[in-house]
Amino acid sequence: MRELALGSRRIRLATGDITKVPSDAIVNAANSDLAGGGGVDGAIHRAGGPSIMEELDRIRGSGCPTGSAVRTGAGRLPAQHVIHAVGPRWKGGLAQEPELLASAYRASLRLAEEAGAKHVTFPSISTGVYRFPVELAAGVALDAVAAFLKSEARRVEAVTFVLFDEATFAAYEAALERLIPL
Ligand code: APR
Repeated sequence: MRELALGSRRIRLATGDITKVPSDAIVNAANSDLAGGGGVDGAIHRAGGPSIMEELDRIRGSGCPTGSAVRTGAGRLPAQHVIHAVGPRWKGGLAQEPELLASAYRASLRLAEEAGAKHVTFPSISTGVYRFPVELAAGVALDAVAAFLKSEARRVEAVTFVLFDEATFAAYEAALERLIPL
């Protein structure tokens, strides 16, 4: 576990399975159809149970554009909310992928604020099936979260990245070293 203090707020890095870590809001790496899938999306729906997809079926409408997010309950997960965020597929870097990824983190944190969540857990959005290079994604993710915690957060006190493997953890650890604390 690594931690960075930003005033009274905290960014933490951990390894593990996000479905096992208690928090107020768990962020999912979803797709714009909100249709479920493999990776962390599959793990969240399996562990949370069918109520999450039932709620998505009711709110889906025309879907959830890349860079945005929607909120549901958390079913059997150890949290009150799941925030389904849609990160970009990597298309080589010239399709605004970093901006869209930062937007997915910001949109998630805004929904967490609205829900009154104090502790939010994130996976490494877009770096699995969507193939966003993890070294770049880690910097974008940490910059977006740190900026939000410094300027917009009122109720969110702590953000934990729950990273599934050591290589991803190492990339986030290196990016955390580059962040300048308040
Ligand atoms: N806990 C934490 N992290 C996990 C877990 C888990 N249980 N399972 C997988 N991961 C990690 C992956 O190892 C990767 O580092 O989450 C990161 C994101 O990978 P993906 O889940 O593949 O997400 P993403 O790259 O954003 O692709 C999204 O995949 O499953 C589909 O429906 C999803 O279409 C969407 C796409």
